[in-house]
Amino acid sequence: MTNNKSKRYLRMTLNERIQHFVLFISFTVLAITGFALKFPEAFWVIWLRNFFGENAFDLRGLVHRVAALVLIADSIYHLFYITFTQRGKMLFNDLKLRKSDIADLKNNIKYLLWLSKEKPRFGRFSYIEKVEYWALVWGTVIMSITGIILWFESFFLSIFSNLGTEISTIIHFYEAILATLAILVWHIYFVILNPNVFPMNKSWITGYITKEEMEKEHPGELDSIEKSEL
Ligand code: HEM
Repeated sequence: MTNNKSKRYLRMTLNERIQHFVLFISFTVLAITGFALKFPEAFWVIWLRNFFGENAFDLRGLVHRVAALVLIADSIYHLFYITFTQRGKMLFNDLKLRKSDIADLKNNIKYLLWLSKEKPRFGRFSYIEKVEYWALVWGTVIMSITGIILWFESFFLSIFSNLGTEISTIIHFYEAILATLAILVWHIYFVILNPNVFPMNKSWITGYITKEEMEKEHPGELDSIEKSEL
């Protein structure tokens, strides 16, 4: 797992970085085109309309749907990746929530409240990263189901009635707010603003993290890698 010369540690393979990049682009496009529909008079939407032109802006609904298909395809690929590839299976196994995560949570709260001097020694994924992954899985399922209902509204109207499609719209909208805030506040904090990685954890671009980042963020994993190298 290590690159011995510079002591950098592989965090994301090229395949995983491509999956993440496709997710990043499709999610960003979905958030912009989705909220632009809901808030057409917002200052940033007016700016986009002036920039792209009113005609191009009319394609907003189409762009939202294409980005949705890209996100769904990326998610299905990810499902295959974690089911059929060796590295994907390992990734999924390391992302499972375990009893030790509850202990880590308790110990981390103590550490953050200055009740303990010892920070938990997180492994490959801390409980924070695991919960973020599962929130993403849950959010993508909800957005895909409700989005498809909105997309084929006239078909679903005959199954669910008007109330069903209205509920889907509400869930789609509030989950969109939750997901966007989770990315802007939670994810951006952990990968950019977190003092241990600031100005940015670059593994999503380079694939590697430094030994210093490993010591601070994943000391438990570093211990087991170093043990296996002995
Ligand atoms: C993943 C699959 C998704 C599908 C299939 C989908 C599909 C749709 C469709 C068909 C609409 C109806 C309006 C239109 O003509 O554009 C819509 C609205 C919307 N979408 Fe999505 N979407 C998806 C994901 C997302 C994501 C990830 C976000 C934001 C993070 C988002 C935000 C929104 C918002 C804010 C609206 C407006 C809702 C309203 O009118 O109250 N969507 N979506």
